[in-house]
Amino acid sequence: MTDLADPGAKGFRFQDGQAMFAGFVVRAGGRVSGYVDSCPHAGWPLALFDRYLTREGDRILCGGHGALFRLEDGVCTAGPCAGRALEAWPVRVEGEAVVTA
Ligand code: FES
Repeated sequence: MTDLADPGAKGFRFQDGQAMFAGFVVRAGGRVSGYVDSCPHAGWPLALFDRYLTREGDRILCGGHGALFRLEDGVCTAGPCAGRALEAWPVRVEGEAVVTA
């Protein structure tokens, strides 16, 4: 967790044969949440280079068309998918590591 700022976010990619999973974790106020890296608007990944958050660090930002999402539950509060939500990727903190739940 020491390499994840608060607030901050980090993306992960896992491959199993032909299957690829893309997700990211968000740390804010000591809480860690995980989401599938696919925007509900068009299915694009939200960010490149771990730039998942707004400059203020108070929302998740999709670089595709500017949708904004709450950190704590991934609900879109502005943009083309307002009212929809990111798919949760259940994670938990185990010591200094973030692991899939
Ligand atoms: S793909 Fe995210 S807002 Fe369009």
